[in-house]
Amino acid sequence: MCDTKKVGILGVGMYLPEKRLTNKDLEKIVDTTDEWITTRTGIKERRIAREDEATSDMATMAAKRALEDAKLTPADIDLIIVATITPDMFFPATACIVQDKLGARQVPAFDVSVACSGFIYGLAIAKQFIASGTYKHALVIAAEKLSTITDWSDRNTCVLFGDGAGAAVLGPVEKGGILSVHLGANGKQGELIKLPAGGSRIPASKKSVEDKLHFIKMNGSELFKHAVKIMADAALEATKSLGLKAEDIKLVIPHQANLRILNAVAKRMGLTEDKIYLNIEKYGNMSAASSAVAFVEAIKGGRIKRGDKVLLDAFGGGLTWGAIVLEW
Ligand code: ACO
Repeated sequence: MCDTKKVGILGVGMYLPEKRLTNKDLEKIVDTTDEWITTRTGIKERRIAREDEATSDMATMAAKRALEDAKLTPADIDLIIVATITPDMFFPATACIVQDKLGARQVPAFDVSVACSGFIYGLAIAKQFIASGTYKHALVIAAEKLSTITDWSDRNTCVLFGDGAGAAVLGPVEKGGILSVHLGANGKQGELIKLPAGGSRIPASKKSVEDKLHFIKMNGSELFKHAVKIMADAALEATKSLGLKAEDIKLVIPHQANLRILNAVAKRMGLTEDKIYLNIEKYGNMSAASSAVAFVEAIKGGRIKRGDKVLLDAFGGGLTWGAIVLEW
C-alpha cells in the first residue's frame, strides 16, 4: 500500500490493578523462592485484577487516560482495536464492549489475538487505516487478565504473569511518527505456548476442567531460545529497513517476558543494557499489555523526548513477533 499520511501517537494511557502479588506471597502458594524467581526472571511482583474487574474494564480505563492525554473525546475515535488473549468472552469482541463503555460512536471495533505481540500488531493495523486516509483517529488498547488463565498450582508458569492495560491514540502527524513496521509469525512453533481448551478443538467439558486445559501450557526453556533470536532479528529488520544502526535508537521498549531474555537481546543487538526499558520487576509478563505499559511509562517517565527514535519489539504465542521504529 502507498502511504499518504504520516501516522503518530497522539496520546497514551495505562491502568494497573491495585493488588500486588509479591514473590514472597507466591512462596506461600507454590514450591518456589523469591531468590529463584528474581534470578531466573527479574520479576519481584505483579498486579492482579479484582474478581469483578474484567479485561474490558482495564482496557476502558487505559483508553480514557490515553484519550485525555491526546485531548480527544470518544466521539473523535474512528477505529478501536483491542489486543488481548484474555477477552471478556469469546464474543462479542472486547473492543465492542470497550466501545460501549467509552460511549464511542458506532465505529469498527475488533480484537487482535497474537499474544504478547498484540500491541505492535494493533499499532501496525491502525497505522495502515490512518495512512490510507480511511480513518483519522484510532484507539489501540492492549489489555490482559492473565491471572484468569494461570494455573496457580504450577510453579513453572504462575510466577511469570500479571494483569494490566496500556493504550495509545493514533492519528496523522506533521513529522516523525511510525517509520517502519516488521511483523511475522511461525505457526509451526505454536505448541510452545498455548491455552489448549475452550475452543472448537477441545470444547469446555468437565474433563477439560479436571485436566486443567483452560490454563497456559508453556515450554519455557524452548521459548527462551527462540525469544532471544526472534526479538533481536525483528529489531534488526525494522531498523535496517530505515538504514538505521542500533545506536540511532534512543530506547528499545520490549515485551517484558524475562530479564535474562532482554539482556541477551541487548547483547545480540550490540546495545548497552541502559538502552532497554525495563519494568518486568514490577509487573511480570502481561502479554500484549507489557510493551504497551512499558511504552506509556517510558513516555511519562521522561525516558523519551520529542524527536527521539524508539523501537518497540515483541514476541509471543503463535509464535508471533513484531517490531516498530517510531519517532516520538
Ligand atoms: N521456583 C523454583 N523452581 C522452579 C520454578 C519456580 N517458580 N519453576 C521452575 N523451577 C525449576 C524447574 O522445575 C527445574 O527443576 P529441575 O531442574 O529439578 O527439573 C528448574 O527450576 C529449571 O527449570 P527451567 O525451566 O530449565 O528454568 P529456566 O532457567 O529455563 O527458567 C523460565 C524458566 C523462567 C520459564 C524461562 O525458561 C523463561 O523465561 N522462558 C521464556 C518464557 C516466555 O518467554 N514465556 C512467554 C512467551 S509468550 C507470552 O508471553 C504469552
